[in-house]
Amino acid sequence: MPHIKLINIVGARPQIIKASAISRAIRNYYSKDITEIIVHTGQHYDKEMSEVFFDELEIHKPHYNLGVGSAGHGRQTSMMITGIEEVLIKEKPDCVVLYGDTNSTLAGALAASKLHFPVIHIEAGLRSFNKIMPEELNRIMSDHSSTLLFAPTNAAFKNLMGEGFRPENSPPYTINNPKIYLTGDIMYDNTLFFAELAEKKKAGFLEKMSLVRNNYVLVTIHRDSNTDDIERLKEIFVTLKVLAEEKDIVLVMPLHPRTVIILRNKLKNLYDDLTHCVHVKIIPPVSYLEMILLEKNCRMIVTDSGGVQKESHFFKRPCIVLRNETEWIELVNNGTAKLVGADPARIRHEFLYFVDAHSDLEYPGFYGDGKTAEFILNEILMMFEKE
Ligand code: UD1
Ligand code: UDP
Repeated sequence: MPHIKLINIVGARPQIIKASAISRAIRNYYSKDITEIIVHTGQHYDKEMSEVFFDELEIHKPHYNLGVGSAGHGRQTSMMITGIEEVLIKEKPDCVVLYGDTNSTLAGALAASKLHFPVIHIEAGLRSFNKIMPEELNRIMSDHSSTLLFAPTNAAFKNLMGEGFRPENSPPYTINNPKIYLTGDIMYDNTLFFAELAEKKKAGFLEKMSLVRNNYVLVTIHRDSNTDDIERLKEIFVTLKVLAEEKDIVLVMPLHPRTVIILRNKLKNLYDDLTHCVHVKIIPPVSYLEMILLEKNCRMIVTDSGGVQKESHFFKRPCIVLRNETEWIELVNNGTAKLVGADPARIRHEFLYFVDAHSDLEYPGFYGDGKTAEFILNEILMMFEKE
């Protein structure tokens, strides 16, 4: 088998978590075949949004950190493209691996494909069919710049077929002759790997936060569709607070800095109110192992996050999704995730339903066998073997 040099591009929190599954599989099974170089765009930079994951998930520190930071979409993406291009010219990798749908993903896809480095897109084919979302544009453009596309669900695979990708293409694979695969989800690999470890390594975490197992609701909110519409954001928080008081249950909210900045600056009275409410615990972003504990032991989850929606399923917890549509449509079809937008009546209805235990809810295995990273790496290596 030829030895290959692979560049892993990360930037936002969920990508660091996803990349850890690939890094771990390289370390455990392919260290003789693959040299991994990690490029961090610097899209996320607070310790609790970035460094904590490298430490906790035992990923190699980034070989390059472009330090791009926060900016408008165009400026941020263009600075990333410039930085990634320089690294690619210097390192001349065999391929570039991208995760998900952030601006870091798009920048990696454009920089690599224009220099003719094969792009491998992990979490390909997901679609919300709402191009107002920056992530939807990032997904479509990244997929159409890729050579190998790994779709994590049936729905994602079908979406790629609908856009003209064909699974029967034969090698050699190129951007003009891409190959699509139906795989599992590498986030599920991580959950299986870390769920037990989290209990051991973070023993006492819930108690320290005065949380009673199965007696709190986990809430995360960060999507621009919610945070950047002040009235909508206000309505979500007020509705949830009233419900928590009414049902006498605690809401634990590890909030993304984006949301806290907006609450502090634009909804100061509400923010003060929330921080003084005994039923609401606003806390800084937590580490991945802490998040696993929060997810594993909560009554239910309320979120607009893609990753947290799926993790609710991994831990068999019902999920209220603060969005009008989702890429993880199998969760909604399964009845264990409910799309409520930001509509107070819909939030109330689903919250009151899920807050009571329902023994009839089922959580089928939609996301593979926990060995998706190994499958992906094997296919990447095969691509070079066949050349
Ligand atoms: C990005 C992704 C989104 C993903 C999310 C994961 C895009 C377009 N969006 O959204 O798909 O779900 O990451 O968390 O790429 N900030 C800090 N510290 C940080 C990082 C951000 O304070 O370390 C604040 C800044 O005020 C910044 C804002 O958060 O302007 C938004 O950050 P940005 O990276 O632009 O987008 P996210 O909302 O994090
Ligand atoms: N996460 C975390 N700490 C937090 C919030 C989320 O470790 O305080 C993890 C979560 O478990 C999941 C990932 O971050 O694995 C999801 O990232 P995020 O919600 O930021 O982005 P999205 O998935 O919506 O793109």
